[in-house]
Amino acid sequence: MPEKILIQLENMSKTYGGGNSIIHALKDISLEIMRGEFAAIIGQSGSGKSTLMNTLGCLDLPDTGRYLLNGRDVSRIPEKELSVIRNREIGFVFQSFNLVPGMNAAENVELPLFYRGLDRKARREEALAALEKVGLSHRSGHLPSRLSGGQQQRVAIARALCGQPSLILADEPTGNLDSASGAEIMRLLLDINREGKTVVLITHNDKIAKSAGRVLKISDGRLIA
Ligand SMILES: Nc1ncnc2c1ncn2[C@@H]1O[C@H](COP(=O)(O)OP(=O)(O)OP(=O)(O)O)[C@@H](O)[C@H]1O
Ligand SMILES: [Mg+2]
Repeated sequence: MPEKILIQLENMSKTYGGGNSIIHALKDISLEIMRGEFAAIIGQSGSGKSTLMNTLGCLDLPDTGRYLLNGRDVSRIPEKELSVIRNREIGFVFQSFNLVPGMNAAENVELPLFYRGLDRKARREEALAALEKVGLSHRSGHLPSRLSGGQQQRVAIARALCGQPSLILADEPTGNLDSASGAEIMRLLLDINREGKTVVLITHNDKIAKSAGRVLKISDGRLIA
C-alpha cells in the first residue's frame, strides 16, 4: 500500500548566507500534501517559493526541521540514492523550459530515461507516447528553437512525465508564456493531475492558482494560508 501522504514538511527552515548577510528564505514551514492532490503555491517575488520547490524536489535539504517524501526522511537518504529518487519519482517543469538546445523534442523527452539506462528503443517509445500526450507527436524531430514557447513548455512537460514519476513540480511554468498558451499549459497540468499524478505548481498568478484544488500562500518565508 503506498502512503497516502506524499509530502510532509515538519517545521522546516532554510537560510542562505551567514553572518550579517543571512537570509531566512523559509521559516518554520509545516505542510502535508496527499497523493493525487493539485497544490498551487503563491507568493510575491522573493517570498521563498523556489526555495520551497527545490526542497520538495530534493535538490536542496532543509537546515532545520524534516522533509519526509513517501514517509522517508530525505536528509537521511544518501546523495546517490537521492538522485535515483529525483529521476524516478519527480518530474520537473521550469519557467524557462530548460530544454537542451542541440537535441530535438524526442531526444529531450528521453533524457530522464537515458539516465536510467533504458535502451534506445524503449526510450524512444516512451518519449513518443509522452509527446503524443501533450499533442506534439508531429513535432518530435524539431529542435526547441523551431518550436513556440508554449510548444517548448509542452515538450518540457512530456519530459517530466516520461518515466511515470509520482510527483510533478512546476515552478512558474506559465511565467514566460502569453495568456492563451499559459491557459493551455494549465489545462494540461490539470489533466495530468486528474489521471492521478500529484502536482505542485508555483505561480504569481492568482487566477491560475484558483484552478488548483488547493492554494498555499507564502509570504516572507512563512506559510500564511
Ligand atoms: N542561492 C541563493 N543564495 C542566497 N540567497 C538566495 C538564494 N536563492 C534564493 N535566495 C534568497 O532567498 C529568498 C527567497 O528566494 P526564492 O528564489 O525562493 O523566491 P521566489 O518566491 O521563488 O521568488 P520569484 O517569484 O522571484 O521567483 C530571497 O530573498 C532570495 O534573494
Ligand atoms: Mg522563484
